[in-house]
Amino acid sequence: MLVEPFAGGGIISLTALFENIAERAVMAEIDPDIAAVWKCVVEGNALWLADRILGFDLNWESLEKELSAPREGTRERAFQTILKNRTSHGGILAKGSGRLRRGENGKGIRSRWYPETLAQRLRNLEGIVPRIHFLESDGLEVIQTYSERKDAAFFIDPPYTAGGKKAGKRLYTHSELDHKRLFSLCGTIEGGFLMTYDKTEEVIQMAEKHGFHHKSIAMRNTHHATMNELVIAKDMTWLDGNRPSGRRRMP
Ligand SMILES: C[S@@+](CC[C@H](N)C(=O)[O-])C[C@H]1O[C@@H](n2cnc3c(N)ncnc32)[C@H](O)[C@@H]1O
Repeated sequence: MLVEPFAGGGIISLTALFENIAERAVMAEIDPDIAAVWKCVVEGNALWLADRILGFDLNWESLEKELSAPREGTRERAFQTILKNRTSHGGILAKGSGRLRRGENGKGIRSRWYPETLAQRLRNLEGIVPRIHFLESDGLEVIQTYSERKDAAFFIDPPYTAGGKKAGKRLYTHSELDHKRLFSLCGTIEGGFLMTYDKTEEVIQMAEKHGFHHKSIAMRNTHHATMNELVIAKDMTWLDGNRPSGRRRMP
């Protein structure tokens, strides 16, 4: 079983399920807007959401009207979240994120709005939905709940706000996190875990205090700049023999 306590877009859980690497995935997310998307999907409304996307005529007027409408019900809230994600700079959902004015190829708000692709991705989810257990809750509580399960592997990708890092604050509505508590909870995990963080001295110190292994991984961000991310685990000997060949790209 895979546990992803800071799910966001849940790329690791989804990949593990599609590739049959995990039989089941427990995903948790605290942000009610993001949670609405997952709830909509697991409650059997993925096809409704796909149709809602296909039926939406995106222009400045329809976008402003849609995003300023009250968030009524899980399904409409899920649609608004996807719309905002696809039409704002860097897909940022947090307050203060601007709309894509020029976007890719000068196509503005339409530059990342691919209705057919989004709808197809949602349709594909139908096949794995029965294997997803989604929780709208605090990831720290979820780690605690599953920490004694020897058959649980955790992928932990928290907002990067440790060591004074600002990126997580700008990117996520819910960015405040008790990082020390997260590290302590990781120490109670009976199965395995893999955690990713921004590379800061404070994070390295917390990892070493708990006797975790850590490794610096090169990745490219959306501006194609190479940055180092830290991968932390209880035991990383397996990673040395299976080093990923490509660089990870931030979504
Ligand atoms: C770095 S992102 C995860 C990205 C994810 N790996 C993906 O594939 O999209 C961190 C996520 O954790 C969520 N989050 C922040 N604090 C949380 C908490 N206490 N419990 C659960 N989720 C939380 C944020 O809303 C954000 O979606």
